[in-house]
Amino acid sequence: MNLLPKDAYGCPFLQLAPMEGVGDRCFRKAMASIGGFNEAVRDFLRVPRNAHVKSLAKEYEADELASLPLAAQLMGSDPDLMAAMAQEIQQRGAPRIDINCGCPSHTVTGRGAGSSLLKDPNFLHVIAKAVVQAVTIPVTLKMRSGYQDTSLFKENLLAAQESGVRYITLHPRTKVDGYTPPARWDLIAEAKSILRIPLVGNGDILNVDDALKMLRDTKCDALMIGRGSVINPFIFHQIRSHFSQTPYQPKWEDLMQYFDVYRASIPSGMPLRVQVGKLKQLLQFLFKSNAKLLEKRMTVLTSTHTQPEEFLNFVKPLLQEGWSYSLT
Ligand SMILES: Cc1cc2nc3c(=O)[nH]c(=O)nc-3n(C[C@H](O)[C@H](O)[C@H](O)COP(=O)(O)O)c2cc1C
Repeated sequence: MNLLPKDAYGCPFLQLAPMEGVGDRCFRKAMASIGGFNEAVRDFLRVPRNAHVKSLAKEYEADELASLPLAAQLMGSDPDLMAAMAQEIQQRGAPRIDINCGCPSHTVTGRGAGSSLLKDPNFLHVIAKAVVQAVTIPVTLKMRSGYQDTSLFKENLLAAQESGVRYITLHPRTKVDGYTPPARWDLIAEAKSILRIPLVGNGDILNVDDALKMLRDTKCDALMIGRGSVINPFIFHQIRSHFSQTPYQPKWEDLMQYFDVYRASIPSGMPLRVQVGKLKQLLQFLFKSNAKLLEKRMTVLTSTHTQPEEFLNFVKPLLQEGWSYSLT
């Protein structure tokens, strides 16, 4: 079965990237209210040594986004625990399990998981195979181009492929790169020429032109978008509309609904000040979406409101002013 089908107009399969912190449940639900993507990937579920997998797995909710599929991502370095966690997640209804081989965080990599797996293709293979063999649902793997450098790039790709994962998602930066230098799309093209399983391209897609260029230059099979969707939540619809040649104009009401869903999804027990902090975190991306909004970004981020409603009432007119410039 093709896990990454194109739509009727030839638009590639579009995925909402996992983004721990920024892209939490509130964001995913808000994005689902706008739609346009085929599947979301949940931010990683840590599988630490001595993990009690049954209780950890409860953080994953298969029906979080109603009818939109939500893949689970696991991050760990103990093959038996990763396999046990995968089984729990499968039982909880996950459509797919993704293995994290990219997280650069020291607290994670210090224990040999995330991007640390890229230091040792043989061990990456052991982990991925353990998960593949533990479940019947598709297992995939998301990786960076390397840890310190790209010297093991090909070995890691092949180790993943040989483990039996169904496809690979490549974010073509090394762990050391973090998020700053431009993503190396040439490595996506190279990976595509090496692999026989499908490849999802990811990294620095901020608008429709970027999406088309990545597809053209790399020949990747599908696209995953992270930060570009926090900056412009309508990006998936805009890509889709290019293929269907049906004009798509984002509506102000849709953006307001996005905020309403986001706000309603914030746990009510969270201190109000922290709720405002969360909204600011979201808005610091959105206010990058055009030059007019960018001018107001600092005003929003430095506002001293402590009540979420008050803060949103302050922000909405600023947003509306910049809105006429349309999102990139
Ligand atoms: C705040 C943040 C959190 C992230 N968390 C995860 C994660 O949990 N799992 C993962 O595989 N990648 C994670 N990533 C990487 C993204 O999924 C993606 O690969 C990267 O941001 C490049 O894509 P983009 O340019 O479209 O954002 C994270 C990225 C950011 C910015």
